[in-house]
Amino acid sequence: MPEKTIESVSHEDRVFEPPPEFAKGAVIASRDQYESLYRHSIDDPEGFWREQAQAFHWFEPPKRILTWEPPFAKWFEGGTTNLAYNCLDRHLDGPLRNKAALIWEGEPGDQRVLTYYQLWREVCRFSNALAGLGIEPGDRVGIYMGMVPEAVIAMLACARIGAVHSVVFGGFASDAVRDRMNDASAKAVITQDGTWRRGSVVPLKEQVDRAVAECPSVEHVIVLRRTHNDITMTDGRDHDWHELVKDQKPVHQAPALDSEHPLFILYTSGSTGKPKGVLHTTAGYMVGTALTSKYVFDLRASDTYWCTADVGWITGHSYIVYGPLANGASAVIYEGAPNAPDPGRFWSIVERHGVTVFYTAPTAVRAFVKWGDEWVNKHDVSSLRLLGTVGEPINPEAWMWYRSVVGQDRCPIVDTYWQTETGSIILTPLPAALPTKPGSCSMPFFGISAKVLREDGSEAEPNEGGLLVVDKPWPSMLRTVWGDDERYKQQYFSRFEGKYFTGDSARRDTDGFFWVMGRIDDVVNVSGHRLGTAEIESSLVSHADVAEAAVVGIPDPLTGQALVAFVTLKGGVQHSAGLADTLKGHVGDDIGKFARPKSIRFADALPKTRSGKIMRRLLRDVAAGKEAHGDMTTLEDMSVLSALSGEDE
Ligand code: PRX
Repeated sequence: MPEKTIESVSHEDRVFEPPPEFAKGAVIASRDQYESLYRHSIDDPEGFWREQAQAFHWFEPPKRILTWEPPFAKWFEGGTTNLAYNCLDRHLDGPLRNKAALIWEGEPGDQRVLTYYQLWREVCRFSNALAGLGIEPGDRVGIYMGMVPEAVIAMLACARIGAVHSVVFGGFASDAVRDRMNDASAKAVITQDGTWRRGSVVPLKEQVDRAVAECPSVEHVIVLRRTHNDITMTDGRDHDWHELVKDQKPVHQAPALDSEHPLFILYTSGSTGKPKGVLHTTAGYMVGTALTSKYVFDLRASDTYWCTADVGWITGHSYIVYGPLANGASAVIYEGAPNAPDPGRFWSIVERHGVTVFYTAPTAVRAFVKWGDEWVNKHDVSSLRLLGTVGEPINPEAWMWYRSVVGQDRCPIVDTYWQTETGSIILTPLPAALPTKPGSCSMPFFGISAKVLREDGSEAEPNEGGLLVVDKPWPSMLRTVWGDDERYKQQYFSRFEGKYFTGDSARRDTDGFFWVMGRIDDVVNVSGHRLGTAEIESSLVSHADVAEAAVVGIPDPLTGQALVAFVTLKGGVQHSAGLADTLKGHVGDDIGKFARPKSIRFADALPKTRSGKIMRRLLRDVAAGKEAHGDMTTLEDMSVLSALSGEDE
């Protein structure tokens, strides 16, 4: 047998069957139903997607389902549709007309509810305003906003008129805005005076002024007043949102756009070099996000659905805006921080709005664990019926906590695996149809042909770690890197010719469940054992005192690489040399001597991207005693890094 690509050391074997009462009325109600639909989607993808596409409004139905000239895919060719029409207009003739589309809560506590009819009117008005400024189909428009309903309105209006939006996360600074606007030659930027974050104003317009001074293509800046801080308006370029829309007609005829019409660009930072502008197009993305929302979150008319992501990330695009609205769901949006004014804010929102489906990131779950159960227990969260996670592998212990404390041992958890590039969820449990296992993202979604491969391209055995690929195209896949087809090919399709490589390592267990083991760039090689980071970190987190852990390798003359673990502790636990030894012993007993960290470093916080992923790349430098280098624009809090260079225990 060839050398193992990555070795799995996990022995997690807990299994939770779907609760029988959950299956009643569920969209996919049994494993058989999943299996048969999945088989159909793989054996006859064109037939499967043709059928699924019928659930949408087409001005002209597609003539051809798929053209695949690797690595370039076209889906639903010959069809014309409009994503905003499918998210709004389509719902206005029936019972959804006056149902809440968005339930918004500002950080200071202000609230707004927009029904489908009201949201449609606002989107129409803003579409007319954009068109009035000369924004045409295909033009790029930047959106740099906080979590306000107008961010959703702006996205939907762009989608409606066929302008390509490029949302830049509101936590980024002006150079990120500048680089993204210039890369896409954006014609307009939509922003706001400021946004609330833990009681302070984050001044967005100021950043835009700085950015746009170096963006020759930007002709218009539209500014929503939210925080009423002082801003400078530039005559001829800057427009006040309310002034601009107040005389616009609240009706707008959605144009029929080609299925492959570019929908949005979203930049991913990547580990090196300049950000990649991931391009998604209209119909495939619509079908993928709508279908996954419906099946994975088991969305029903009675649900109040809350995804805590920011619209600046793909999760916000697919699972706050497009997927839920295409299904007529009622979506909660919250503007501020999870601990403003106290760490119970999320649970207070769940209680007051009666949230039924709650979707968040493992980093948030680990923060909840650290803050303590009492913040959840203070609130009545019994409205919840389904929980989800996305963004990183979730450590089984954090998963168990989420299940018992938030889900009260009642709610299934969907651990959804996907990427900016995949557009929608690709590996996931279906809550009424498949059992769940803590730490596993379960099975492939319909139409997803996912494989774990060895370096030589052969398929790994069950439980053998390898490289996670998708070897057939799917509707919501990225179409290219904006303006750089070559980079698209190189980045995603060169490792295995014609197959999409995710950059992640994974294994599939004997039941066919997938377990993601971490980014391939983070694999550590200790005494010939190639280990993914997730399993060792999970072992550390399974110790009762540990809240979060990140493991990296440093060069070691004896073992090739040695493991250094950065650990944050639960509230009230003190660090000590004794605890460090205990944790080393714990991993040694749990996994094996070879996986014992050489040193443990206690920290108050770990360096993370603004979307909550641990930046192991920076920790590698810290562990090796070097100055951290490389792109740091995505780092959430610089002070975390300097606090980390202390001594080992
Ligand atoms: O490493 C995987 C991890 O997040 C990466 C994608 O990040 P991004 O494009 O920012 O999108 C995040 C939201 C979709 C993946 O390559 N990842 C995401 N979800 C999971 C995950 N790792 C393990 N389990 C997941 N459920």
